[in-house]
Amino acid sequence: MQKRLLSGIKPTGEIHIGNYFGAMRQFLELQDEYESFIFIADYHAFNQIQDPKELKANILEIAKAYLAIGLNPEKVLLFKQSDVSAVTELAWIFNCITPMAELERAHAYKDAKAKGKPINMGLFTYPILMAADILLYKSEVVPVGQDQKQHLEMAQDMAKKFNRLFGNTFKIPQELILKDAAVIPGLDGQKMSKSYKNTIGLFDEPRIVIKKTRSIKTDSRGASEPKDPATCNVFALHRLFSNKEEIKKLEGRYRNGKISYQESKDMLAERINDFLAPIRTKKAELDMNPAYVTDILEQGQIKANALAIKTLAEIKEKIGIS
Ligand code: TYM
Repeated sequence: MQKRLLSGIKPTGEIHIGNYFGAMRQFLELQDEYESFIFIADYHAFNQIQDPKELKANILEIAKAYLAIGLNPEKVLLFKQSDVSAVTELAWIFNCITPMAELERAHAYKDAKAKGKPINMGLFTYPILMAADILLYKSEVVPVGQDQKQHLEMAQDMAKKFNRLFGNTFKIPQELILKDAAVIPGLDGQKMSKSYKNTIGLFDEPRIVIKKTRSIKTDSRGASEPKDPATCNVFALHRLFSNKEEIKKLEGRYRNGKISYQESKDMLAERINDFLAPIRTKKAELDMNPAYVTDILEQGQIKANALAIKTLAEIKEKIGIS
């Protein structure tokens, strides 16, 4: 029997190549090997996006992104988090067995607090809903980027605690984090993230990709000066789009002062555009056919609910509410 894989993305705006190389590429590569559940974390996004039109549009964009990169809806269960009410019920159950002190250790919460940002309960209990996402379907592996590792650890803790208190119920889910793509850097060298405005979008037009790559920060070394690939933001992105041999060659040109940053950037833009071309084409097709996309989510919803209802009944029985 295939192991079950689950992961999701928040529809909070642009989907970028950090999402792709850290997480989505794994969804794609593992779709034959695992029974895959890939969802749109819209309740998580509601915590940030409280404009109904925007949220609705973002949800559809994620669904299209999943299909545009090549997830096969015949194999992968695609659905919306909010379509399965059992997940918020399970989140409540986890709320009741999780000490506040544990949630106070969460990076996202600590970060927001340190910056003096307003914090709602949705942000505070974010890891609880995420654990419910994972455990409701008794998922075994969860492909994500490094920034989700702590959330995974918290889900593991909740699974263990529930099993201890109420008998063996959940498998302990394992994170799958790609070593060479755990943290994809953005245009400024920090982690690529919508909130840092340093992204290259999965659906960016070619001219935007060129503009963005030209804006990548570098030092001021001239064309014929030796350059350090290890500290170059352009080079870091080349690694995603070139094979080992090409990287070795480029490394040599960097060290020997045989390439200008301008040339390296334009080469990178070309690579990125070649890579994105088929994704853009597929996305344009999907834009013409939104009913096809919503239909897939509808089908996914039915199957996800059937499974979720069963697990929730088992859990309610175990905790004495049935
Ligand atoms: P989200 O929407 O922030 O990001 C989606 C996925 O993309 C990965 N990622 C990156 N990986 C490498 N380098 C980067 N620069 C980069 N930026 C983003 C993220 O690690 C993530 O895997 N909490 C999740 C959504 C979620 C979820 C879940 C995931 C909700 N429930 C259950 C797995 C299982 C999130 O906010 O991801």
